[in-house]
Amino acid sequence: MQKNLLPNTQDKKVFITGASSGIGYALCEEYLKQGWSVIGLARDSSKIPDTTKKNNNFKFVKVDLSDFEVSKSVINDVFKKNKNINTFILNAGIYLPDGFDNFSFENAKKTFNTNVLSIYLTLELINKNFKLSSKHTLAIMSSTAGYKGLPKSLLYGPSKAALINLAESIKSENSNDLNIKLICPGFVETPATKVNTFKMPFLMSPSKAAGIIFDKIYKKGFEITFPFPFNSIMKFGKILPYKLYFKFTEKKFSKK
Ligand SMILES: NC(=O)c1ccc[n+]([C@@H]2O[C@H](COP(=O)([O-])OP(=O)(O)OC[C@H]3O[C@@H](n4cnc5c(N)ncnc54)[C@H](OP(=O)(O)O)[C@@H]3O)[C@@H](O)[C@H]2O)c1
Repeated sequence: MQKNLLPNTQDKKVFITGASSGIGYALCEEYLKQGWSVIGLARDSSKIPDTTKKNNNFKFVKVDLSDFEVSKSVINDVFKKNKNINTFILNAGIYLPDGFDNFSFENAKKTFNTNVLSIYLTLELINKNFKLSSKHTLAIMSSTAGYKGLPKSLLYGPSKAALINLAESIKSENSNDLNIKLICPGFVETPATKVNTFKMPFLMSPSKAAGIIFDKIYKKGFEITFPFPFNSIMKFGKILPYKLYFKFTEKKFSKK
């Protein structure tokens, strides 16, 4: 049984992927505010405010996580030099709102390389570099969009569904008694969701999302999902029989 999930002061070092914008950046800010050391990974540091970049507790690591050769060596190096990382938040992801009528295999590759395979690579490197125990926290960023198939989510949805299954699999073994968290947010206002042309229900700011995640990540429980009631509506969709579910999605989303 996990107890006292919040680590001691000397162990407060977090590894966050997708740290340059949106939820990942907001998480970096939240952890810095809480007195942690933060290692943030992304491709483009220019999006990060100078105040954060100058913070001695923040280290930016430039890497393209979809370039597996390079990221293997970069992440290995980070892990070798930072054996006291306590929390891993695998957050980086891309959102390409392709539907069946306009998707491309190229976009499918980009989505799965970034959203799924890069996570497997990072997990392998975590396993090789750390003697994982109940002191460690591993959080995987999925989405409520992974609960069930949605219109215009031919690539993103399945990539996030894979992550839900992956986190469930790790949790179901949990031979190391790790604190494992699956994070499934609804809509958060970030550069990724700017492409949406529809009104996003219960849209939340990244800082609010990061606050909720930090508040729940060291508490008991497996899934962190918000905002209520959007997450409950999406969960309800999960258990609806297909006939009713598709009646709803076709009516609500598909008609132009
Ligand atoms: N926003 C939402 O409504 C929402 C809802 C549920 C789940 N999520 C999930 O939350 C996570 C963060 O998304 P966000 O909404 O905050 O979007 P965002 O602002 O676009 O952030 C995505 C982050 O991932 C990084 N990234 C993307 N591709 C990368 C690559 N190849 N290598 C390294 N870093 C890469 C980006 O940095 P660079 O571009 O600088 O590399 C950026 O820091 C994603 O996994 C997303 O699926 C978002």
